[in-house]
Amino acid sequence: MEVQENISLKSFNTFGIDVRAKQFARFNTVDELHQLLEFSQPQTSNSKPQTLILGGGSNILFTKDFDGLVLKNELLGIKEIKEDEHHVYVQAGAGVNWHHFVRHCIHNGWAGVENLSLIPGNVGASPMQNIGAYGVEIKDVFFSLEAFHLHDKKTVHFSLNDCEFGYRESVFKKKFRNEFVITHVTYRLNRIPEYNTSYGAIQQELEQMGAKELSIQAISQAVINIRSSKLPDPAIIGNAGSFFKNPEIPSSQYSMLRSQFPGIIGYPLPNGHVKLAAGWLIEQAGWKGFRKGDAGCHTKQALVLVNYGQATGREIYDLSEEILRSVKKKFGVGLEREVNIV
Ligand code: FAD
Ligand code: EPU
Repeated sequence: MEVQENISLKSFNTFGIDVRAKQFARFNTVDELHQLLEFSQPQTSNSKPQTLILGGGSNILFTKDFDGLVLKNELLGIKEIKEDEHHVYVQAGAGVNWHHFVRHCIHNGWAGVENLSLIPGNVGASPMQNIGAYGVEIKDVFFSLEAFHLHDKKTVHFSLNDCEFGYRESVFKKKFRNEFVITHVTYRLNRIPEYNTSYGAIQQELEQMGAKELSIQAISQAVINIRSSKLPDPAIIGNAGSFFKNPEIPSSQYSMLRSQFPGIIGYPLPNGHVKLAAGWLIEQAGWKGFRKGDAGCHTKQALVLVNYGQATGREIYDLSEEILRSVKKKFGVGLEREVNIV
């Protein structure tokens, strides 16, 4: 366990932004985390956080050097902790790569996460972000988690209700922001799959693949194919997935917008609101494929902002600001950033 000084974070964030951390360390056990926290400056709820927990860096935009200690979570291990007639309860260390976990589940015939195939990042951020794709969110398979409190230096147990999951939201993004390090997550997976193929192009992709029977393997492959066709691979073009959330608006506002913009894409929600496709709004506002220097808006998916090489975090952020303003002006709809800005 070593604390390094003045380290470039370029290879630790999928945007590939070249900022530096004052201090940087990795931890493999909760004990190591505990010891490392002794190094960091004390945090109070009012003061600027001086410790940043980093997973795969796939949902972060660094806009400046980090003047504190970056702790890279490398808690590994996947184990089956209990099972009953219908479910298998599987615990994973927060540092396990998410897609590796999905593959492990599929290999063992545990269903529930196949629609979440190929999402970058680690297990630890999955409940923090309530990651979601193709009709499934983490909350649907979440059972519990353990998190280490940065001040109290104690492990706290969180149940499904404690996490207050919402669309790309949890207590860890809101009221407990920067207070906990998620160390282990337990998922409740199905022994008998409940296939979810209703979302987007999954059904169509399965047909194209010639999949004769539904299986978690086939769904996973269909999701991988769809994702690979439109989302940029961060190993080639820097990005952090969707930069903004899809906004929710009242249905009355949606009706008004639809009369003005008949092509607008909206999905009715159980609460009577409508979720708009932000990618469509951004494309219609003229941003798809836009590039200024090395900061850009992806050519195939306007919701994804990209770094073609040397863009700074500030340049990406400024582009997001311009997009926000123009979407607001054209449609009267405010977008909210999904990516964590540091
Ligand atoms: P990081 O980027 O390292 O961290 C994200 C935030 O969580 C930071 O605030 C960090 O401090 C905090 N954090 C990380 N680990 C911990 C921990 N152990 N304890 C406490 N806080 C922690 N997301 C989706 O939901 N659906 C998608 O379909 C999707 N597609 C994507 C496609 C691409 C190409 C990319 C690049 C990203 C995509 N994302 C998607 C976003 C991203 O993959 C997820 O948000 C992922 O969960 C981030 O994981 P990470 O380990 O990289 O988190
Ligand atoms: N669209 C456009 N133009 C674009 C982009 C999209 O018109 O440039 C339209 C599409 O044609 C489609 C609709 O918008 O009709 C929705 O697009 P898509 O299916 O690609 O999904 P999304 O709403 O843009 C969301 C998530 C993704 C997740 C996919 C699949 C958010 C913010 N994003 O994207 O998650 O993978 O659905 O479930 O909810 C992420 O969070 O980082 C992420 C990639």
